[in-house]
Amino acid sequence: MSATEFNPVAHGHSLDELVTMTSATLARVARDFSPAVFASSLAAEDMVLTDLILKAKLPIGIFSLETGRLNPETLDVLAKVKAHYGYTIDLFHPNPAAVEQYVAQNGLNAFYDSVDMRRECCRIRKVEPLGRALAGKQAWVTGQRRAQSSTRAELAVQELDTAHGLTKFNPLADWREEDVWNYIRSNNVPYNALHDQGFPSIGCAPCTRAVQPGEDVRAGRWWWENPDSKECGLHMVDGKLIRIKSA
Ligand code: ADX
Ligand code: SF4
Repeated sequence: MSATEFNPVAHGHSLDELVTMTSATLARVARDFSPAVFASSLAAEDMVLTDLILKAKLPIGIFSLETGRLNPETLDVLAKVKAHYGYTIDLFHPNPAAVEQYVAQNGLNAFYDSVDMRRECCRIRKVEPLGRALAGKQAWVTGQRRAQSSTRAELAVQELDTAHGLTKFNPLADWREEDVWNYIRSNNVPYNALHDQGFPSIGCAPCTRAVQPGEDVRAGRWWWENPDSKECGLHMVDGKLIRIKSA
């Protein structure tokens, strides 16, 4: 199956219905899973969740993994959130000694050399800081959607994160790309300027590029790798990096 053929979400819900269901999930997380946190990559999906959490004043803290390799446009979103909602997103940084050692041994951009080198960079810059962000929490929330990639085909709204030993919520699992953008436009939600420059999905600057019209939404992420290896380790399933839907 090629990435462009992949489209597992064909729901019949209106945007209002999706918002009602998603808000109910977030309220349940806040009520029954305290303390809970939301991991924001500062991209479009995460701005929908940021808007829903902050407008409802839910006690779910929002953090971002500042890898040290983010685009300036992505970092600008921190200021946009502060200006729009008066909220400061908590930042988690990689261990400087680990970054220094990786760069000294392998070079600054060794992630282009192999999947293993790429995953080691993601481990240092994202996965280890994520562990610190989740310490002492009962649950975390992500902006993942099933339609994003073959690796997310079987994503559930609620799952057990065995890697971190807590419950994980993906409240936008059913949302389509157009639902995300309909929400953002109709609620005047601030968003990353790169989305208007051909970037549907945004990660670190050297590992993300613009896509052509009609290309898969994650085609610009780690574009030199096979679609089925495009996970960074933030979202482990049963000890594995990916969950491919069986045919
Ligand atoms: S990734 O694993 O390929 O990088 P993607 O960019 O699709 O993930 O984002 C999926 C979800 O992972 C986001 O909605 C967010 O919850 C979380 N996430 C990804 N990158 C970050 C980040 N830098 N900081 C915090 N959360 C992140
Ligand atoms: Fe490193 Fe690229 Fe992973 Fe960012 S996305 S942590 S730069 S390999």
